Amino acid sequence: MSTQDGKVAIISGGTRGLGAAFAQALLEQGWRVCVFGRRDSEFVQQARAKGDWSDRFIARTVDVRDSAATQKLVRELNSTWGRIDLLVNNAGVSVPSLIALASDEYLDKHLDTNLGAAMRLTRQVVQVMLPQRSGKIINITSVVGLQGYTGMAAYSAAKAGLDAMTRCLAKELGPAGITVNAIAPGYIPTEMTEKMPEAVVKWNLDNTPLGRLATIEEYVPPFLFLVSDGANFINGHTLVVDGGLTA
Ligand SMILES: NC(=O)c1ccc[n+]([C@@H]2O[C@H](COP(=O)([O-])OP(=O)(O)OC[C@H]3O[C@@H](n4cnc5c(N)ncnc54)[C@H](OP(=O)(O)O)[C@@H]3O)[C@@H](O)[C@H]2O)c1
Repeated sequence: MSTQDGKVAIISGGTRGLGAAFAQALLEQGWRVCVFGRRDSEFVQQARAKGDWSDRFIARTVDVRDSAATQKLVRELNSTWGRIDLLVNNAGVSVPSLIALASDEYLDKHLDTNLGAAMRLTRQVVQVMLPQRSGKIINITSVVGLQGYTGMAAYSAAKAGLDAMTRCLAKELGPAGITVNAIAPGYIPTEMTEKMPEAVVKWNLDNTPLGRLATIEEYVPPFLFLVSDGANFINGHTLVVDGGLTA
C-alpha cells in the first residue's frame, strides 16, 4: 500500500483535457477522485465503466461558477469519504478577444471561471482541510499569466491573479499544514486550444526552444511530483512547464 492509497482529490474540470489526465493518474495510484464539469465526457464514461475504480470515482455535472452547487458537492464528498487531501483548481476557459470588442459577459466569464470560482471553491474545500491540518492545493495557471499576449487580457489577468492567490494562500494556510502551489503550462493541444488561429500555434512553435508543443501526458509527471510527499516542503511555487517558452 503506497502513501497515496485512499487519499481524496477533487478536480474542477477533471472531465477532459489536463484535468482528466490528472484524475486518471491519481486513480491509477489508488486515490479516491471526484471530478466535475458542465458536461459529461468520454473520460467520465470510461472511468465509470472501470470496475476497480467504481467505489473510488465520483463525477458530477456542476458549473464551477455556481457557488451553491460546488458547496453541495464539497459537502457530499466530505460526507462520503470523510476528508479532502487535494484540490486541483483546473477548470478554465480561454477564448481570445481584443479588449475593444470584449462584452461585459465575456469579461465576467473569463475572470470568474478562471479566478473567482477557483477562489470560492478553495474557500469551501479549505473548511474541510483546516480541521485535518493537512492538504494540498494545486492551481493550474498559464504562461499567459506571466507574459502579455494580444487578445488575452481577461484570461491573463485571471491566471496572474491565480498565481497571486497561490502565494498568498501558501502563507495563510502553511501554518495549518496545507501547501498551495501552481503549474503554469505553455500551449497544449486540447479542446480549449483547438479553435486557436494557426498563427498562434506557429508563434508557440517558433518561440518554444524545444521546437515543439507539449502533450497533455507531459504534464502528468510534474503534477504527480507536486502531489507526492517528495514535494511536501514546496509551498507558494508556480512550476512553469513550457519547454522554455518564457525562459
Ligand atoms: N491547453 C492549453 O494550452 C493551456 C495552457 C495553459 C493553461 N491551461 C489551463 O489548463 C486548464 C485545463 O485546460 P485544458 O487545456 O485541459 O482545457 P479543456 O480541455 O477545455 O478542459 C477544460 C475543463 O474545464 C471544464 N470547465 C470549463 N468551464 C467550466 C465551468 N464553468 N464549470 C465547470 N467546469 C468547467 C471543462 O468541462 P466543461 O466544458 O464540460 O464544463 C473541462 O473539463 C485550464 O485552467 C487552462 O486555462 C491550458
